[in-house]
Amino acid sequence: DKGGWSSFMAKEVSEEPEAVAKTVLGRVRDGAVVIPELDGLDELFAGISRVVVIACGTAAYAGQVGKYAIEQWARIPVDVELAHEFRYRDPVIGPDTLVVSISQSGETMDTLMAVKYAREQGARTLSICNTQGATIPRESDAVVYTHAGPEVAVASTKAFVAQITALYLLALHVARVRGSMTAEQIARETHELEAVPEKISTILEREQERITQLAGWMADTRSVLFLGRHVGFPIALEGALKLKEISYIHAEGFAAGELKHGPIALIEPGQPVFVIVPSPRDSTLLHDKVVSNIQEIRARGARVIVIAEEGDASVLPFSDEVLRIPLAGALFEPLLAVVPLHIFAMGLATAKGLDVDQPRNLAKSVTVE
Ligand code: M6R
Repeated sequence: DKGGWSSFMAKEVSEEPEAVAKTVLGRVRDGAVVIPELDGLDELFAGISRVVVIACGTAAYAGQVGKYAIEQWARIPVDVELAHEFRYRDPVIGPDTLVVSISQSGETMDTLMAVKYAREQGARTLSICNTQGATIPRESDAVVYTHAGPEVAVASTKAFVAQITALYLLALHVARVRGSMTAEQIARETHELEAVPEKISTILEREQERITQLAGWMADTRSVLFLGRHVGFPIALEGALKLKEISYIHAEGFAAGELKHGPIALIEPGQPVFVIVPSPRDSTLLHDKVVSNIQEIRARGARVIVIAEEGDASVLPFSDEVLRIPLAGALFEPLLAVVPLHIFAMGLATAKGLDVDQPRNLAKSVTVE
């Protein structure tokens, strides 16, 4: 039931605040992370020396965002790999490896085969999944469910923000077990996490109409590029995937620092480029580097659409459009910056008269390898 929305995707994007809130619900108490599903696993978390995240598509981008949080908070090295690549390359894993799989459906065959393989190699396995009782969680040692509710549209949206949320909760839980953060430090981050749903709602209220309009004007665009740095990089990849998937437009995401190593050659007058700008408050260095990337592409005629924090005026002289997100700590920006990109992909596909819920050639759940 679309509940009055024009598509399931529109409904599910509108549920992004709730997807985060419900995934946090009952798992944060007085600033501490409480995940009953992980009771009795302290020894496992204390004993691992690395984490390998495996997933496909959008879930893999959530994993890439999660890597920053797990490394920063829990101080464990994390590799993120596409499940189908991991499975067929003789990876070095063992009992000290925690393999975290991420899957909305819990039925993705590529991910399932990789989880089974990891277990056979003696690794410990934890599943982050949105579907109760699905095959992947059943095949894993532990599961942390995302509570995004059923996702029907082929394009994953609310599950993505819920996956990042679950990874952050996991990272903070492991940080507590391993003693890499104090209770106060954890409380500061859980507080930030609890504030995310409201901030996503603000974006939906303030920017949705304008982004949809912008997408409508761009219905004839043949190619769109996305740039991001640090946690903004996987968000750029996610923005590009969503556009390819439902609007059939060529799109690519790049790490902003990679521009001069090749992609800048693609920039010609009129080329639309989305740039995710890190907050200037957390790292002026990172922020200023991205702003100088914007200047470089602008000088070559790119049409620059930036996603930037409220109040960041430094981007104004070099941007054609500025989409605003509320202030948040650096690691929480991806949960906000992705929202305009989901709205944009949906707006563009709609403007082209396409079925946003059922894109050609794709299935919601990929149950073959
Ligand atoms: O059900 P899963 O999370 O395992 O699915 C993984 C990918 O197939 C999925 O995220 C896909 O990339 C989406 N259609 C992207 O929007």
